Amino acid sequence: MSKISLTRYLVEQQRVDGHIPSQLRLLIEVVARACKRISHAVNKGALGDVLGTAGSENVQGEVQKKLDIIANEVLIEANEWGGHLAAMASEEMDGIYLVPNRYPQGEYLLLFDPLDGSSNIDVNVSIGTIFSVLKKPEDHAGVSEQDFLQCGNRQVAAGYCVYGPQTTLVLTVGDGVAMFTLDREQGSFFLTQENVRIPEDTREFAINMSNVRHWDAPVKRYIDECLAGKEGPRGKDFNMRWVASMVADVHRILTRGGIFMYPWDKREPDKPGKLRLMYEANPMGWLIEQAGGAATDARQRILDIQPQKLHERVSVVLGSKNEVERVTRYHTEASK
Ligand code: AHG
Ligand code: MN
Ligand code: MN
Repeated sequence: MSKISLTRYLVEQQRVDGHIPSQLRLLIEVVARACKRISHAVNKGALGDVLGTAGSENVQGEVQKKLDIIANEVLIEANEWGGHLAAMASEEMDGIYLVPNRYPQGEYLLLFDPLDGSSNIDVNVSIGTIFSVLKKPEDHAGVSEQDFLQCGNRQVAAGYCVYGPQTTLVLTVGDGVAMFTLDREQGSFFLTQENVRIPEDTREFAINMSNVRHWDAPVKRYIDECLAGKEGPRGKDFNMRWVASMVADVHRILTRGGIFMYPWDKREPDKPGKLRLMYEANPMGWLIEQAGGAATDARQRILDIQPQKLHERVSVVLGSKNEVERVTRYHTEASK
């Protein structure tokens, strides 16, 4: 059987199932094209002079790497002229980016983490791009930051591209999760897995263990029980994996199950967590749910959180359903 390209997959989604309007199809294709360009830049590494820091900071006070900025520019340039977008928002930009007047305005809003896993760029470990698509509210003209502040359950498309040994684009438009692998000779993404499912149980957890002394009691309880292994209350041994690129950790979970946690901790008690709600937790949370997993902030479903600001942070617990429910239950029990 001939391979199914991303383009064909999207056309069929549009035609047969009526899942996606043509403008959304165009948007996803443009994002995929941008990811292809980012993938090439990532691959060149030192040869392309893309490693190291850029000497600037983003709105969250993080040092920007050259690739953070390159990836951000690639995504903007690719998306601004197509007429499918009203505005964009990114981890690397303080405010929203309006589509310039010289181009037609579309009805979609695109949010992205252009380069996730920045600390892994220079050490040649998997990194990625995360994106989330919303519809601009129809009740008014123009577009403002307020229009972006929609719950994750309003997303119309979400996905990520992981730049690892293979470049893989993972996508949902609300009809399950599909994976596409980049064929470098042909320059296209081809469907390599459909109907991705996450096992409900797992023996593998992902958390930055160096923060153990800063954790809240329920997180400590859960991990202690995993570490106690066969002899402990869980009655089974657990394995640990932590890539420190959310895309790579989520990709592993979509592939073979597991639980990923970046919980609130005492290092920065006033912040709900490290990860960002609108362009990290929401798209990943939806993908995980679409594959039969669960995603909470340790108390409630991530997709039901009403964002208050663009760069809002959130505590994240996602992956195999039964484990996520357990961690969430430990938190609700503790607060009673
Ligand atoms: P980003 O590079 O976009 O700032 O995101 C990095 C995030 C996420 O990808 C990862 O899970 C986490 O930060 C890693 O945190 P540690 O440095 O605590 O390992
Ligand atoms: Mn990130
Ligand atoms: Mn980033």
